[in-house]
Amino acid sequence: MQLLLAAAAVLSLSLSLLLPSPTAAHNITRILEKDPDFSTFNHYLTVTQLAPEINRRETITVCAVDNAAMSDLLSKHLSLGAIKNVLSLHVLLDYFDAKKLHQITDGTALAATMFQATGSATGSAGFVNITDLKGGKVGFSPQDNGGDISATFVKSIDAIPYNISVIQISSILPSPEAEAPAPGPSQINITALMSKHGCKIFAETLLANPAEKTFEDNVESGLTVFCPGDDAMKAFSPKFKNLTAAGKQSLLEYHGIPIYQSIPGLKSSNGITNTLATDGASKFSFDVKNDGSDVTIFTKIVTAKIVNTLVDEQPLAIYQVNKVLMPEELFKGVLSPSPAPAPGPEADAESPKSSKKKHKSPPAPPEAPSDSPADAPDGDVADQSTNGAARFNGGGFVAVILSLGFAFLQL
Ligand SMILES: *[C@@H]1O[C@H](CO)[C@@H](O)[C@H](O)[C@H]1NC(C)=O
Ligand SMILES: *[C@@H]1O[C@H](CO)[C@@H](O)[C@H](O)[C@H]1NC(C)=O
Ligand SMILES: *[C@@H]1O[C@H](CO)[C@@H](O)[C@H](O)[C@H]1NC(C)=O
Ligand SMILES: *[C@@H]1O[C@H](CO)[C@@H](O)[C@H](O)[C@H]1NC(C)=O
Ligand SMILES: *[C@@H]1O[C@H](CO)[C@@H](O)[C@H](O)[C@H]1NC(C)=O
Repeated sequence: MQLLLAAAAVLSLSLSLLLPSPTAAHNITRILEKDPDFSTFNHYLTVTQLAPEINRRETITVCAVDNAAMSDLLSKHLSLGAIKNVLSLHVLLDYFDAKKLHQITDGTALAATMFQATGSATGSAGFVNITDLKGGKVGFSPQDNGGDISATFVKSIDAIPYNISVIQISSILPSPEAEAPAPGPSQINITALMSKHGCKIFAETLLANPAEKTFEDNVESGLTVFCPGDDAMKAFSPKFKNLTAAGKQSLLEYHGIPIYQSIPGLKSSNGITNTLATDGASKFSFDVKNDGSDVTIFTKIVTAKIVNTLVDEQPLAIYQVNKVLMPEELFKGVLSPSPAPAPGPEADAESPKSSKKKHKSPPAPPEAPSDSPADAPDGDVADQSTNGAARFNGGGFVAVILSLGFAFLQL
């Protein structure tokens, strides 16, 4: 009986663990502020707006440097944009704590960084090479640095397996590319950038449509683009082909807003937002909402989630979303209470929840539940393919549940 009770308690605990947590799990500012040696590094994570981006991500490693190493960097008098690129090269998109660093398979590993993920880096510039060295040392160098070890592991500052590891390295990683003045926004080819980072189909669709010019015309004065990932665009393709020429253009222009919005900006200015497709009475607006640490876009037909940042440099931000944004002006039919046979899996996931409950009899097409936790990872596909670290989350999870179970059985 006691065993049963314990088992039930473990089950309910593990179920509660499975629910997505509403708040960010870590706060890099708070972690670093415990040690004044890192106050300069910490200050620049805040002013470059890297801190919220670090808090939003999971399975990462922050390579911090002390104030002396930061003053070497600051003595170069770089622009804030360049400092942001340099520091984003110090955020590895994989979890490396002291133990893992000293146990790297084959003695060397290549880690993708946030610099690589934001699309500012070309070629191998966004990768950091980690190498186990003689005498228990661990060396770090940017992959484009000709193989010289630039910095070594000093100590672990904090570790929350497998969400975030904060370590100290001996000096700033030198990277001519990160230090170069950031290109002006008008020099950024937005379709090429989207193509390279998971939004190829959206970029190609845009290039074949007059809407592309609308986006280009707005870059200089401030533009935020929400580009659906390739899987979302593939699923949406039959519906897109069905639209009139004007409808296609509006649909594409609906994925941009004519102002620059950082993630913190989107979070703090929630609400109805006009888009590039808005034209007087044709509202074509959507609602920006927070969902825990995520930002979601609600169109009355779909709720899409921001899953990746491709670029975020005033006046241009491009975010990847996990669904095509369907404006009610073009897809009113989907709102009708009697569920028309859905042509694709996406249409089903997007039909109002109430209609699913009322009509039990017709066999529902395969479900793609939009709110299940399983839905969350597929957005970060770009990251996972480069760092292959997603499995550590799961591993940590099972370990937590198992150890909790063990604790209960001992009671
Ligand atoms: C890791 O992050 C997840 C998601 O944000 C959170 O639910 C979990 O509690 C975090 N783990 C720890 C040990 O803080
Ligand atoms: C993180 O911690 C800092 C300093 O303690 C605090 O000012 C900030 O509001 C925190 N951020 C979040 C998102 O909780
Ligand atoms: C990292 O750099 C070392 C030294 O240049 C090199 O031998 C190693 O192959 C590199 N590792 C990777 C994964 O590229
Ligand atoms: C951007 O790159 C695409 C190829 O991805 C090219 O077709 C297009 O002409 C470029 N646009 C500009 C403005 O250079
Ligand atoms: C295409 O439009 C027609 C007429 O509006 C509609 O009946 C059909 O379901 C649409 N097909 C798709 C794939 O949306």
